[in-house]
Amino acid sequence: RSCILVGVPVQAGTGRRGCDMGPNAYRAAGLAEALADLGHGVVDRGNLAVTPSAVPAHPNPAIRNLAEVAAWTRHLADIAHAEAAEGVPIFLGGDHSLSAGTMTGLARRAREEGRELFVLWLDAHPDMHTLATTTSGNLHGVPMAYAAGIADFAPHLPAPPATLEPENVCQIGLRSVDPAEREALRRSGICVHDMRDVDEIGIAPLVRRFVERVVAADGIVHVSLDVDFLDPAIAPGVGTTVPGGATFREAHLAMEMLHDSGRVRSLDLVELNPFLDERGRTATLMVDLAASLFGRRVLDRPTPSF
Ligand code: ARG
Ligand code: MN
Ligand code: MN
Ligand code: MN
Repeated sequence: RSCILVGVPVQAGTGRRGCDMGPNAYRAAGLAEALADLGHGVVDRGNLAVTPSAVPAHPNPAIRNLAEVAAWTRHLADIAHAEAAEGVPIFLGGDHSLSAGTMTGLARRAREEGRELFVLWLDAHPDMHTLATTTSGNLHGVPMAYAAGIADFAPHLPAPPATLEPENVCQIGLRSVDPAEREALRRSGICVHDMRDVDEIGIAPLVRRFVERVVAADGIVHVSLDVDFLDPAIAPGVGTTVPGGATFREAHLAMEMLHDSGRVRSLDLVELNPFLDERGRTATLMVDLAASLFGRRVLDRPTPSF
């Protein structure tokens, strides 16, 4: 199965400009070459574009760029559904609002194939707001609530073609959770691990437990990697830095273990803002993490049976 690069230059979900340059920064940082070096076929579909059309307004006056996010969500659900049948789609963001579309399209594909879809969400934030609870109005703060079917987003955003089982979602890296999100997470049944869990338990046991649940269900995995999962000291190229993030070694280990599981079928790389980056170092780190996820390793070792 080939890797399929899909450029998603959306920045309508953030409060800052620059995420629209993300897809091309991954190309400049050599993502296609890194995957090809690992022996994968690579197809680059270029960058998508959408034409927003009017959607019913929501009473929350804070909400920004609703029509644009609605158009991306609808289009990406179709694209993700189609590309997941062709290979391993890698969505090059673009802000995290894109995951509302990708995850629901992937959920539809998995349902049609009779496979159970699991999501590993690596992020400082749970992105669990509804249209009613967001106070920033930035819609990169809502995709998990949307995709897990936590609240009704229609008719403002399109009704999702399929939703995730909250029990099949695992979030790791949280360290910025708004009060309404905390309550929504508690009610949802989503598996959540904040940075305290990473510190106390360690990244390896957390990822291993997740993979064990996937294997027990004979499931497949989508990884949604937000740049701000990483510590800002190693990944400055993002608009929503939060101190105390994952280290270089924790992030690579998580990727290596996910690769060893043999279960990863799709990936979102989100929130890279090249305008805020330093000489491409964040783009390069994200490319190196993707390479670890798709099989780069220092030494050969026996594949563990989880
Ligand atoms: N919870 C905050 C908000 O809703 C931050 C969201 C950050 N999300 C992201 N994908 N970077 O505005
Ligand atoms: Mn996010
Ligand atoms: Mn985030
Ligand atoms: Mn977990």
